[in-house]
Amino acid sequence: MVNVKTQKNKVFVTSPLLPDLDDVASQLKEIWAAKWITNMGEKHNLLESKLKDVLNVDNVCLFNNGTIALLTAIKALDIPIGSEVITTPFTFAATPHCITWNGLKPVFCDIEPDTMTIDANKIEALITPKTKLILGVHVYGFPCNVKKIDEIAKKYNLKVIYDAAHAFSTEIEGKGIGNFGDITMFSFHATKLFNTVEGGCLTFNNSDLYKKICNLRNFGIQNEECVSDIGINGKMNEIQAAIGLLNLNLFRDEQAKRKKIYDLYNSNISLIKGIRIPKMPSNTTNSYQYYPIIINDDYYTDRDDLYNRFKAINIMTRKYFYPACSDYACYKDNSKHYEVLDDIKHRVLCLPFYGSLPCEVTDKIIRGLNGKFE
Ligand SMILES: Cc1ncc(COP(=O)(O)O)c(C=O)c1O
Repeated sequence: MVNVKTQKNKVFVTSPLLPDLDDVASQLKEIWAAKWITNMGEKHNLLESKLKDVLNVDNVCLFNNGTIALLTAIKALDIPIGSEVITTPFTFAATPHCITWNGLKPVFCDIEPDTMTIDANKIEALITPKTKLILGVHVYGFPCNVKKIDEIAKKYNLKVIYDAAHAFSTEIEGKGIGNFGDITMFSFHATKLFNTVEGGCLTFNNSDLYKKICNLRNFGIQNEECVSDIGINGKMNEIQAAIGLLNLNLFRDEQAKRKKIYDLYNSNISLIKGIRIPKMPSNTTNSYQYYPIIINDDYYTDRDDLYNRFKAINIMTRKYFYPACSDYACYKDNSKHYEVLDDIKHRVLCLPFYGSLPCEVTDKIIRGLNGKFE
């Protein structure tokens, strides 16, 4: 077996976008001089306003991570405790956990085979008098069926939140993906295309929500003598914001590098029998967050064996999202089955995908996919 020589001898599914250290030092000097290191400082406010342009939205509220942002988004919609939220089981743990932490019940809906997002055609059958919210996830940057979900929400008077953790800068028909539904959450975690080390934001069209969300983000404190809401500490600090400002200058270049790898993977993998490459709908831009492949029955081996073979040569692919959230002990309901999810969760594999991925590694990955691991 030949080991790939990279950081710590392992190739991971992603590698964080890191600004130049000298630039970080300059930013830190400014922060030190200002002696203002958190609580909506200058850098925080600048990043918030720059993100409006990048995400093509009217309102941005920064957070210290995507999970607290999502938790706050649900809280801001004042949904009665005990209500049901229709969501996807094919997502990261944070999505259903934020529902549950708000005292609401996640009701899992099956996913579409192509985009792997919540199947909008299966939502109506799950609606009960207790349903108050639909929480869709633009998984891997593939867009939910926002049009159909909007129709359903209007018909049944439901709120809609989107988890766009994987869809930074994605546009649907030229419109920023953060404009759909009532509120959208973006994550700026280290693994994301654009990162602030940890971080995230909420975007929304209804400007009335801005005050409310800002208030919830800061413990519900209105002013020195008034705490009006049961808020949380969701504030992004100045150091996170500074990293964000620097990475904002870099992410388009990173995206362009990823596009080259995406094209290289596509042209080689499309020739391999038994692997399907899920396609981005033609009206949607790709965030280039992940490169998922689907292992079909006519491939020479199964997904788990392929994962293990790569692992044995220190290439760490990821089985996102296996297990599905509906398999977690805290959510498991043995009476429920999901036709598409229960199949696809055993087939998806995310390949290493980041701008600085060396050619010899992509070659090795492509050879591995062709069954050549020696
Ligand atoms: C789909 C999804 N939702 C939510 C989150 C949580 O975001 P954060 O890590 O910024 O809290 C993540 C991952 O980081 C994610 O992949």
